[in-house]
Amino acid sequence: PAEDQARVAEIKQLLKQHNAVLVAHYYTDDAIQQLAEETGGCVADSLEMARFGARHDATTLVVAGVRFMGETAKILSPEKRVLMPTLEATCSLDIGCPADEFSAFCDAHPDRTVVVYANTSAAVKARADWVVTSSIAVEVIEHLQAKGEKILWAPDKHLGGYIQKKTGADMLMWDGACIVHEEFKAKGVEDLKRLYPDAAVLVHPESPEPVVRLADVAGSTSQLINAAKTLPNEQLIVATDRGIFFKMQQAVPEKMLFEAPTAGNGATCRSCAHCPWMAMNALDNLAGALREGSGEIQVGSELRQQALKPLERMLNFNT
Ligand code: 13P
Ligand code: SF4
Repeated sequence: PAEDQARVAEIKQLLKQHNAVLVAHYYTDDAIQQLAEETGGCVADSLEMARFGARHDATTLVVAGVRFMGETAKILSPEKRVLMPTLEATCSLDIGCPADEFSAFCDAHPDRTVVVYANTSAAVKARADWVVTSSIAVEVIEHLQAKGEKILWAPDKHLGGYIQKKTGADMLMWDGACIVHEEFKAKGVEDLKRLYPDAAVLVHPESPEPVVRLADVAGSTSQLINAAKTLPNEQLIVATDRGIFFKMQQAVPEKMLFEAPTAGNGATCRSCAHCPWMAMNALDNLAGALREGSGEIQVGSELRQQALKPLERMLNFNT
């Protein structure tokens, strides 16, 4: 639409004017992902977003995604201004893990190494020994387990269960879940597999165990897009937020992509899996943030210092 074109032109001009770069997640609107690409920003998984923002020499980062992504960017680059289209965009994992309760949980288990998923607040990260994203979680836990460490894991019980099964590590778990991925049903995926027996199944490990068990590849959003490219299968059943289809289809234009059903009766539910918080990012509020300097992420300096340590451990791991 003409309105969108005008917004896109305005945002391009504002990005230049403010020496800003757009860092977008795969679950944001197609128009935002396209804009990030066209303007020298990035469209990426949460680990790559963190790396890109920290390394880029722009003075303003515009993070299109959810709050923890903006906070991570600010913790890694305190000298940069970090703006988000809206500060309301949170995550069910973050909401389900309040810092005070989490801190008490850690206090009760002082013998355990605290590893938290990136999808948490700065205050929860500040209490952790390690932060991980889904793209690196298995390797980090393997490394800790090899040193004989017992783990306290939070907040995603499905991702935690997946890592535990892969590594055999001793993991005490927080009881959190992603409301989007939790809706995928194994029966629906099996029914779809029956219709398309040659299809490969790609699953984000925030999904429940019966769904992950059906996966040919489980991994972060970037890892799933990579798998779509490298697997020989012409048909792919994908269990993650539907935002991923924009880049995935671009990567494999000749392949047929199917959304994994979220309905247990086997009926394919079109476009059900979409994060309500990612959906709050739009061209309008993105332009507004740049125009008015609204949606600025602030992290107090003491909290930042504490949260930086486990984040840096992640970024320095294996690099
Ligand atoms: P990725 O690190 O795989 O991009 O995941 C982030 C997220 O929020 C998934 O729901
Ligand atoms: Fe959080 Fe799930 Fe949304 Fe990702 S998709 S931001 S884990 S609620």
